[in-house]
Amino acid sequence: VETFKIAVIAGDGIGPEVINEGVKVLNKVAELDSGFQFEFTYFPWGCEFYTKHGKMMDDDGIEQLKEFDAIYLGAVGFPGVPDHISLWDLLLRIRKSFDQYVNIRPVTLLKGAHLPLVDAKREDIDMLFIRENSEGEYSGAGDWLFKGQEHEVVLQNSVFSRKGTERIIRYAFEMAKKEGRSLTSISKANALNYSMVFWDQVFEEVSADYPEVDTASYLVDAAAMLMIKDPKRFEVVVTSNLFGDILTDLGAALAGGIGLAAGANINPERKFPSMFEPIHGSAPDIAGQGVANPLASIWSASQMLDFFGYEQYGRTVLEAMEHLLVEGEVLTPDMNGTASTSEVGDRVVHIIDSLIK
Ligand code: NAD
Ligand code: IPM
Ligand code: MN
Repeated sequence: VETFKIAVIAGDGIGPEVINEGVKVLNKVAELDSGFQFEFTYFPWGCEFYTKHGKMMDDDGIEQLKEFDAIYLGAVGFPGVPDHISLWDLLLRIRKSFDQYVNIRPVTLLKGAHLPLVDAKREDIDMLFIRENSEGEYSGAGDWLFKGQEHEVVLQNSVFSRKGTERIIRYAFEMAKKEGRSLTSISKANALNYSMVFWDQVFEEVSADYPEVDTASYLVDAAAMLMIKDPKRFEVVVTSNLFGDILTDLGAALAGGIGLAAGANINPERKFPSMFEPIHGSAPDIAGQGVANPLASIWSASQMLDFFGYEQYGRTVLEAMEHLLVEGEVLTPDMNGTASTSEVGDRVVHIIDSLIK
């Protein structure tokens, strides 16, 4: 039996609540196929760990994670620990250390999910965001000069390397080519007169290698407007780290809500483990109540199945989610339901069971 070793970092707030349900789903799928199994190892890292140990993860945490086939993450960040510390020392540290430079975030309206725009059609909302995930506005480089003084100046540098920019754009072209869909680049060269001018230039250059892929390019402000007004324009989308962060929360709202949106942090060369996570955060406002929507973490479990080459099961999990949404009976409060987190997970598991048998 093929064994996939998964490092589980459930993290903070609703992280552990939603990850539990994703683990149930993965175990169910494995139970129905005798060819593979999952071996989960739990890491207690996060903000609680920080308050005990003064750090977000073990000093050799990255070393420990290296031997795993994938990382399954809930959410990081909780009031009490400054966000820039908790996130940079755990989530962003993993993305960077493992060169997970591709962040794949589907913005797809599943059957049964709430259609937010009166004049949109279901099939109009089907985008695949390819977010640059290793540098750009998230380079982490900067300076804080004359701190607290009258002349205080803060610098937050963006870094767009040739290698980093080209590889993400090439990845997106490959994806668009594979899927037979168009590719849209989202940038902001009118105001960001170095980084985004360069981004647009690289997009132009790389596009020459893909004459079969239709392309479009928008400024990020207009793109935000058009995602709402005319979502069908967007198929595969490639954009920078920060723009991708913002636009995929917008996309989440378009595609059924933040409780549904998933993301895969991929190291395409498979030199290091990739990481699968919902795109939402730790939701301190609802943590501990057992009402968080686990569908985003379940969708990211589906992305993990795809990544391991079991696309048929990845699809089954999405299908089960659609069944659940169409039924409309077992949903969490964010979807106007009354079910608990674990009731939703159990229902998905039950549907998977009936779909596979
Ligand atoms: P958030 O995504 O945690 O919450 C935003 C809103 O969406 C809240 O009202 C919350 O209740 C709701 N929500 C989010 N996920 C939900 C779910 N699964 N089911 C139902 N409702 C859900 O964003 P925030 O409040 O801006 O951030 C809270 C903390 O999470 C911060 O520390 C932030 O830095 C961190 N964060 C972490 C990640 C991550 O680990 N990947 C992502 C985003 C934010
Ligand atoms: C996300 C999150 C992270 C990001 C934060 C928590 C650092 O918002 O995964 O979307 O900005 O990448
Ligand atoms: Mn985000």
